Amino acid sequence: MTLRVAILISGGGSNMGALVRSMEGEHPARPCLVVSNVPLAGGLKKAETLGIPTACVDHRPFGADRAGFEAALQEILEAHTPDIVCLAGFMRILTPDFVARWEGRMLNIHPSLLPKYRGLNTHARAIAAGDAEAGCSVHMVTAALDAGPVLGQARLPILPDDTPDTLAIRILPFEHQLYPAVLRRFAIGDHTPVILP
Ligand code: GRF
Repeated sequence: MTLRVAILISGGGSNMGALVRSMEGEHPARPCLVVSNVPLAGGLKKAETLGIPTACVDHRPFGADRAGFEAALQEILEAHTPDIVCLAGFMRILTPDFVARWEGRMLNIHPSLLPKYRGLNTHARAIAAGDAEAGCSVHMVTAALDAGPVLGQARLPILPDDTPDTLAIRILPFEHQLYPAVLRRFAIGDHTPVILP
């Protein structure tokens, strides 16, 4: 049975594109929906070009009403019956109630070597700490932010003249390798961590 994958984005959707392209041909899963909380997210256009159904749930009208935003998001997700939800550059923090509905079926990519640097500004924090390396992690989404079981990591050296931007640029291609590799394993029930390179 081919699993259905919904992908949540907020921005350019480069990880979404890598995931969608990885599911072409022989693969246990297929993309069924791309949802953004940002109406003008470049990733929506990218998904349309790739022929994937898209939707937008603008979080702004909901203000502080997280439950209201998530109810609208849940309705759209349920209408497309995904088996797996991939957060890919999705920049809204999800409440424990929402996560509970998808726990065990929801993944996220985070630009740090978890458990280091949960939250934001990960590359700046790694550089400021004088770390020798940085990278990205794919993890199961749980109620605690960026704290679920790690299903894959890619690591690379931090160079002496790295800035957060140069580091992010060098890590992004690794994200595009890692997330599809983790999804392929996850879709067949294999939770063995993917370690790159
Ligand atoms: C990526 O660095 C990812 O790690 C983070 O959001 C950034 C942008 O992702 N979660 P994308 O290009 O929108 O996929």
